[in-house]
Amino acid sequence: MFRAIVNTATPINGAGRLVFAQIRNAAAQASAAKTAAAPRTKTVSIYRWNPEEPSKKPFLQEYKIDLNECGPMVLDALLKIKNEQDPTLAFRRSCREGICGSCSMNVDGRNTLACICKIDESTSKPLKIYPLPHMYVIKDLVPDFTNFYMQYKMIEPYLKRKTATPVGDKQLYQSEEDRKKLDGMYECILCACCSTSCPSYWWNADKYLGPAVLMQAYKWIVDSRDEYTNERLEQFRDAFTLYRCHTIMNCTEACPKGLNPGKAIGEMKGLLAKTATMPHKNSATVGVEYK
Ligand code: SF4
Ligand code: SF4
Ligand code: FES
Repeated sequence: MFRAIVNTATPINGAGRLVFAQIRNAAAQASAAKTAAAPRTKTVSIYRWNPEEPSKKPFLQEYKIDLNECGPMVLDALLKIKNEQDPTLAFRRSCREGICGSCSMNVDGRNTLACICKIDESTSKPLKIYPLPHMYVIKDLVPDFTNFYMQYKMIEPYLKRKTATPVGDKQLYQSEEDRKKLDGMYECILCACCSTSCPSYWWNADKYLGPAVLMQAYKWIVDSRDEYTNERLEQFRDAFTLYRCHTIMNCTEACPKGLNPGKAIGEMKGLLAKTATMPHKNSATVGVEYK
């Protein structure tokens, strides 16, 4: 779309008219080219299940979209289908830029965020969209995160101190070196793509915490401002919560943010194996030698 800003008090001379004609022609050509483009019809095959029809089994529903009329991402396709073809389709989304973690789902066999996952433009094969695997489904592409959030709550994901620190009295400073230990972990958006790609989590989600929650637990363990290092570590000294990880590394492969929860788990195991009981953490002992 072209827009010319014109001072209407000024008469348009011959040269001005020529420029307007050129702009009009260019706009007409662009519009004609758009109309003339052959449709690129893509089949989108989506998992459907409606809790209001519990006797009906889940099924795959097919929709057709013209890729010429759709944005480039999988979330664009879902929004187009919901807006133009089927308002009953349910999925989560919020930020549409890979920040909130709410649009996690399984696209063409991979767990990912729909908003930053490009549609495969090949029209010869369908785009297949399922909810995150091995989660209870609330409706269509909306999984139930209750267990995941309960597990996250279990690790007490907040700063814990033994030393009394009056609120607002002073900041808890951290050296640059200590701050760096949190890199690669604080960026996690808790989308659960990693946990739901982990076979150990599929089979033992009631006892094994899974890579997303374990990496967050480790983040608090290595945070130099937290004073409950031993207590945090000791809660993982059993057969399931941590050690059910068998280092298959699906989690790291799946993370759409490029993080490495498998590595964090490995470091956590190393730390726990090394220390029957650890003296209170200081910046020299925790999270350095295992990187
Ligand atoms: S490395 Fe551990 S957490 Fe990651 S997929 Fe494998 S078993 Fe699961
Ligand atoms: S580690 Fe990656 S995949 Fe796992 S919850 Fe965090 S952002 Fe999502
Ligand atoms: S909509 Fe927020 S991460 Fe996709």
